[in-house]
Formats: sequence, structure tokens, C-alpha cells
Amino acid sequence: MCRNFELLYFLNLVKLWKDDIIKDMNTEIIKMDEGAIRKEDIQKAGELIKAGELVAFPTETVYGLGADALNKDASRKIYTAKGRPSDNPLIVHIAEISALEKIVTEVPEEARRLAEAFWPGPLTMCFYKKNIVPDETTGGLATVGVRMPNHPVALAFIKGAGGYIAAPSANTSGRPSPTLASHVYEDMNGRIPLILDGGAVGIGIESTIVDFTGDVISILRPGFITKEMIEEVVEQEVQIDPAVNGVSADSRPKAPGMKYRHYAPKAELAIVEGHSHKAVVEYMVTLCQKALEEGKRCGIMVTEEHFGAFREFEERKEFVLKNLGHEDDEASVARALYRVLRDFDEEQVDVIYSEGFVQDGVGQAVMNRLIRAAGHRILSVPEE
Ligand code: TXA
Ligand code: MG
Repeated sequence: MCRNFELLYFLNLVKLWKDDIIKDMNTEIIKMDEGAIRKEDIQKAGELIKAGELVAFPTETVYGLGADALNKDASRKIYTAKGRPSDNPLIVHIAEISALEKIVTEVPEEARRLAEAFWPGPLTMCFYKKNIVPDETTGGLATVGVRMPNHPVALAFIKGAGGYIAAPSANTSGRPSPTLASHVYEDMNGRIPLILDGGAVGIGIESTIVDFTGDVISILRPGFITKEMIEEVVEQEVQIDPAVNGVSADSRPKAPGMKYRHYAPKAELAIVEGHSHKAVVEYMVTLCQKALEEGKRCGIMVTEEHFGAFREFEERKEFVLKNLGHEDDEASVARALYRVLRDFDEEQVDVIYSEGFVQDGVGQAVMNRLIRAAGHRILSVPEE
């Protein structure tokens, strides 16, 4: 017993010492103007990457935490900075289609067509990798996910840094992905030397992942590019990996990242669903009333059109309302979602209730993230 205690104490000391080492850096933030990217900024970022360092950069989906994808020690640093499990592979970002052939063994015709249709854009495709891509980058997998982002700063940065940037989302493991440079700073201050600040991202949720290494083409993570959009280009039905919606506890996701607890706010979050917007909002009002009566601080996430229903709570200190975008515009909800989840962490609320969305088109990706943030807590409006 005593020995165990000593061992624990020792391990804790090691951990503190390690945390200190990785938090002793000055983190510089450079403001980037998409329309007038300065050569010297790109050069500075490129030099850091070539020296094996990490640089955070904007993409159209979320901010990425970049390293030289072909340098195993650099990739390893990403896992340390994020506190990420080492079996969770990184996406390799490229800036030119010709770069693909250098890192993957074969590109099926359907993948070529998808690249033509959606690259640069919010689409990641998985192929068998060539040996030039180290196991450290792919979490030990024989396959590699590749994406060409649609953001002028990202493209200039990738080109200036040698053409192959391994990058997960630039958050600490388990926190919502960053949609602003200030989110990256919150999580990575002291751990990385440079953040390229490109302002707010355009899409707000991570890329769609499509796998070409199985018997059928399948979607491992839903995103802005929907199943229907993909099927139209590949001219066949594509499968959605059963683990995407976490239907059964034992379904093993092909994208290892989908199995980890993600995007979780500190407060308990529940999604409210019902047959109409009106019924959902009325039930949210009831739930909020109850929480406030119990002395809890209550957070509400709804689209702007429903703000009016919560007016009665406006003056209450224990009530916090956040704007999720616009009703019937799931893209606006995607853009707002992670920022709202992060904002709630600052508010010290006890419970949060969110409106649910139709799982159609982009709504499918939005609900995928929201359900995971809620730890699958979904409340249905009770029948009359
Ligand atoms: O939009 C995005 O994809 C953002 C930006 C920065 O590009 N990146 C991003 O990376 O979301 P990350 O690491 O947060 O999520 C990558 C996901 C993980 O779930 C991982 O398991 C999966 O992609 N993944 C990567 N390579 C894979 C592979 N070879 N096979 C299956 N899943 C893979
Ligand atoms: Mg991530």
C-alpha cells in the first residue's frame, strides 16, 4: 500500500515536471490578412516546421495544429501538446494534388473524382500509405487520411513548409475544436511557438472523412460535404460507418478518434427533441424554470428565432442564453456550435439545454457533434 502511494507520488512529480517542460514556450500570434499574406510570415512558419516545431494555422473547417508530416519526432510532439492518445491518427494536409501520389500507394478513380469536385475543401480521404509517411503520423495504421484545405493562409503555409503538414484540430484533447485563434491560444499557450491568426473559420466543424481502404466506400465522420453530395460524384451508394452515431456500445469506429469522449462542456448538456420547434422550445422553458427553482445556473442554446420564448428569465443572474445561429440554417449552427460550447465553460453553469436539429444534410454533422458533446443525453418532449 505504502509502496503504491510512493509510486503514485513519484509519477505525479514526473507529470508535473513534464507539464512544465511543455509549457515553457513563448507563443507568438501573427495576424494574417487572407488578401495580403506576407511572405516573411509564411517563411517564419515554414522555418519552424522544417526545424521540427509545431505551428497552429486556420483552415476553413477548424484551426489545425501543424507539424512536418514526414518527420516522426515532429508528429510525436503533436500528441504531447494536445494530450492526445497515440493511437489516434493525424490528417496529412497537402496544397497540390500532385503531392498525393508521393504519400499513398493507390488512388481509386472515385477518389480522384471526389478530389476534383471538393478539393480544396472540407473533405478528408483515407488511402493505404507509402513508407515515407511515418507510423507516428498515422497512429500505427497502414492507412493515411489526406486533405487539401480551402483557406489561402493554410495553402500558403503548407507550400512554404514543405508540402506535407500533419494536423489534428488545435484543441487540447477532449475540448471543442477551435474556431478562433483565441481558442487555440487558450489551449496551446506555452506549448507551441506560433499561431497564425486568420480570424473566424468559415465552416466551424471538422471535415467529412471518406474511407477508400475497405470493401465499400464509407463515411467515417460526417461533415459539411454530405453523403448525398459524395454519392452524386462517385455514382454509387456509400456506407456510413455504424460507429458514427454510436448506435451500439461495441461498434468499433474505423476512425479511431470517433471513440474518444469529445467536445464535452464542463456542465451537463442535454438535447431537447420533439415534433415541432414550438413544442421543443416550450419544454425547454419548463426545464429551465425547474433548474432555476432548484438553485442551479441554467444555460440555454437556441437559434435566434427562439430567443423571445426565454424573455421571462432575462433578468435572472443564474440564466445564460447563447445564440446557435438561425433556425433551418444548419450551416449557421455548425459555425456557432463550438464557440458556444467553449463560452459556456467560462460561464460556470450547472446544466445546459440545447435545441436539437433535423439530421439531414449538414444537420447530420451538427447533430453528430452535439450528441457527443451531450454524452448521448437526449430528452423528448413528453406526450400530452
Ligand atoms: O477539418 C479537419 O479535418 C480538421 C482540420 C484541422 O483539417 N482536422 C481534424 O483532425 O479534425 P482531428 O485529428 O481532430 O481528427 C481527425 C480524425 C480522427 O477521428 C482520426 O481518428 C481520423 O480523423 N483519421 C485520421 N487518419 C485516419 C485513418 N488513416 N483512418 C481512419 N481514420 C483516420
Ligand atoms: Mg479533433
